[in-house]
Amino acid sequence: MAIEKDFFRQVMGRFATGVTVVTTNYHGTPAGLTVNAFCSVSLNPPLVLVCIDRTSSVLPLIRESGIYAVNILTTEQEAFSRCFASPSEERHTHFCHADYHTAATGAPILDGALAFIDTRIVAEYAGGDHIIFIGQVEAMGASSQVAFADESAKEDATLVGHEEEMTSEESLPLGYYRGQYRQLADGYRQPSLSTIYDTKQREQREQPAASSENA
Ligand SMILES: Cc1cc2nc3c(=O)[nH]c(=O)nc-3n(C[C@H](O)[C@H](O)[C@H](O)COP(=O)(O)O)c2cc1C
Repeated sequence: MAIEKDFFRQVMGRFATGVTVVTTNYHGTPAGLTVNAFCSVSLNPPLVLVCIDRTSSVLPLIRESGIYAVNILTTEQEAFSRCFASPSEERHTHFCHADYHTAATGAPILDGALAFIDTRIVAEYAGGDHIIFIGQVEAMGASSQVAFADESAKEDATLVGHEEEMTSEESLPLGYYRGQYRQLADGYRQPSLSTIYDTKQREQREQPAASSENA
């Protein structure tokens, strides 16, 4: 069986993701599009990537500005996901009526997002009909906490002093699975990888001491 577009979408749609709006600031004009092809790339240096369709009207703006911010949406922000994925005037002229602040780069950080990652583009790769933009993290925030790679960037950041409006502690992430918006089902929780890793490390630290006591 050949790899048909629809089947590719069906298979990839089994990978549950969050939903983001990737924004940029082109000579003072905000622009953005809905993106779920986003992931973390590197801790040191802190890098992330987004994949943008070559035909997107926002692509040249991201490329030329050299900056983008990833806004991770909450379930209350589904309307933004729909608006930033549409070719409407509401989006292109009014930035989907979204309120926003800025952090390090000047790219819009949507008020009320679950978290944000504000980046400067350090590399661009061809990825078939998409372009992969690698962004170095200049600022990021979640749960009213914001961190900057360079503290001097705080001076121009309009979100400083408004952190509480910026990112939401209690809200849930907007999910996307098999072509539909979803909410996480509450009640299913397992220890995170870091908890498992910390427990293993503690056990390993304690074990040699116990065996030398026995010797
Ligand atoms: C949930 C969801 C995820 C999307 N993910 C991406 C993505 O990762 N990359 C992308 O280029 N477009 C993605 N899109 C499509 C764009 O948001 C949409 O095509 C947008 O209108 C493109 O911008 P344009 O109008 O400037 O062409 C996604 C749309 C939705 C609804």
